Amino acid sequence: MMIAGAQAADLGGQVLKVGSDTTYPPMETVDEKTGEIVGFDVDIMDAICAKINCKAEFVTTAWDGIFAALVQGEFDVVMSGVSITDERKKTMDFSDPYLVVSQAILLRVEDEGTSLEAFQSGGKTLAAQTGTTNAQLAEKLVTRDNTRLYDTFAAAILALQNADVDGVIIDGTSAHAYEQEFAGELTATIKGLESDPLGIVFQKGSPMVDAFNEGLEQIKADGTWDALVAKYWGV
Ligand code: ARG
Repeated sequence: MMIAGAQAADLGGQVLKVGSDTTYPPMETVDEKTGEIVGFDVDIMDAICAKINCKAEFVTTAWDGIFAALVQGEFDVVMSGVSITDERKKTMDFSDPYLVVSQAILLRVEDEGTSLEAFQSGGKTLAAQTGTTNAQLAEKLVTRDNTRLYDTFAAAILALQNADVDGVIIDGTSAHAYEQEFAGELTATIKGLESDPLGIVFQKGSPMVDAFNEGLEQIKADGTWDALVAKYWGV
């Protein structure tokens, strides 16, 4: 809460380099026509910056190495649908959660009857992006042997379409986007698995964290956050 009379956070117009793996609809993707980086994360970052006086410049980077690059100072911030985990908190600081997502499993429509138990009882494979909380859950559900790891979720989705794997485990927010993109082909009938709070990521000890939390609180209070959630997920 902002205390009445307290100094509002102001980053003095600072331009922030935001590292992001922009292969992750609808959080961040590159618009095919304009080449621009677009998505929920971009909109949230812009909305917060409008409150606390900064400018976000998203830069595409691979997920593999994204946190090392932040820690080494290559970026000021990472925003990439990143789950807040105890492990990651050891080396980086996070904003308050800007969204809570629950994981889901995408299937080919012809397999839509496949249950979670069918995955757990063995013999089926699950794909996910390497180094994600989704990959961790995949290993818990189907064992490491039956988990297939890819550099991007886009590659994992392709593997599902090619029937190289039986399912893709992914944040429900992105499962929803892929269901829409590949309507009639892919479906997420297994939903509501482990839930993950997503945060904006900073170098340890960054003085920007408080300002971002204040900005986040403001966009939640004035309806901007609700409007963005409705824009992307229609709820
Ligand atoms: N929320 C998951 C995690 O943090 C997946 C994030 C993947 N993000 C991306 N831009 N590919 O582990």
